Amino acid sequence: MAVVSTLTSEDAIALENQYGAQNYHPLPVVLSRGEGVFVWDIEGKKYYDFLSAYSAVNQGHCHPKIINALKEQAEQLTLTSRAFHNDRLGKYEKFASDYFGYDKLLPMNTGAEAVETAMKLARKWGYEKKGIHSNQAKIIVCQNNFHGRTISIISASNDPIATENFGPFTPGIVAIRYDDIYALSEALKDPNVAAFLVEPIQGEAGVYVPDDNYLKEAFALCKSKNVLFIADEVQTGIARTGRLLASCGNCSCEDKSCSGTPDVKPDILILGKAISGGVFPVSAVLANNEVMDVIRPGNHGSTFGGNPLACAVAMAALEVVKEEHLAENAERLGIIFRKEMEKLIEESTLVRLVRGKGLLNAIVINDTEDSSTAWNICVALKNNGLLAKPTHGNIIRFAPPLVMTEEQLHECIEIIRKTILEFQN
Ligand SMILES: Cc1ncc(COP(=O)(O)O)c(C=O)c1O
Repeated sequence: MAVVSTLTSEDAIALENQYGAQNYHPLPVVLSRGEGVFVWDIEGKKYYDFLSAYSAVNQGHCHPKIINALKEQAEQLTLTSRAFHNDRLGKYEKFASDYFGYDKLLPMNTGAEAVETAMKLARKWGYEKKGIHSNQAKIIVCQNNFHGRTISIISASNDPIATENFGPFTPGIVAIRYDDIYALSEALKDPNVAAFLVEPIQGEAGVYVPDDNYLKEAFALCKSKNVLFIADEVQTGIARTGRLLASCGNCSCEDKSCSGTPDVKPDILILGKAISGGVFPVSAVLANNEVMDVIRPGNHGSTFGGNPLACAVAMAALEVVKEEHLAENAERLGIIFRKEMEKLIEESTLVRLVRGKGLLNAIVINDTEDSSTAWNICVALKNNGLLAKPTHGNIIRFAPPLVMTEEQLHECIEIIRKTILEFQN
């Protein structure tokens, strides 16, 4: 304890640099406390968190209801493994299945594990229900995707940093252009395709929002070819984009917390991050019986998946989303944010465009992809009390906790505006 409390930010960074694998390139800030939309560094400086741990902390840092659920359950029972039943799992599975409108849930821990799970589920369904010949199943993915870091998932990636020197890769994955219905219809001519795996908005790639009809048409095409439509909503789900799920973002339904429409209802839904409010690693794969029931004992699992602590935390975190109307807030504030960024674009030649949905947004900096301008802006934003991170060179993603108030948002917009204008001079 004593070592931690006497650390300076510089010491903490030096320790990470010396003893930690260098698999990330964080901004030079060392956080030690969080509450709601704010985080504090070791020296006590307060910041607006405008990243939310890549959309995991949608409910705000250390939300009291979620933390209470964690504490209460931690004193009761934390882990049983799935060798035995526990008294939280069934309740949570029913709660989350009803919440998102599916028959069943398969619990995992991280987003990548849930994506792997969905890929396994799709292949097994392909062989056992669709009748694809043994070992021939294919999964269609989109270029510039981000689904995680395992070998099979990076086999679907075209990012050289993620893939170089990690081969050989998992076969049976076909990449097509994102937001290209023609490319999908061509790829679907192959009868061995079991599934199409897609992010409703490509977050990591730089918050690419597809055409309004893309998901609807892609879903309909998949249906017509008996191909499973898998939505990876690890980053876009749980109210982030102004709807409970981004994959139903184009429906005409007025209920922002509704979990599905006749237009797009993913056959397999992948969730992670904010399903626990960023309090605990929890992820989930949801599907109806026709798909989920191909999984039998021994086919798949995880020691921690479905542990009682995760179940208690996730139930509380999902309740917060509805109780505090986070989807509605994300939609409302997102409109204000993009409008204000449009004004900034008029004022500054440094920002080229803004795009996004709800509170998942990005601005594109007017510089080359390999420039350090976006990074330097993020350092300047940090110095001015707001934390954000570049993604893919010249793009800065803005994703604050969804519990932000309009007043706080305006304060953040002012920090961004001031920083960009100062930076330009
Ligand atoms: C769309 C998407 N899928 C999967 C993942 C992987 O999640 P995790 O980092 O929890 O493995 C991420 C992480 O950013 C993501 O954005």
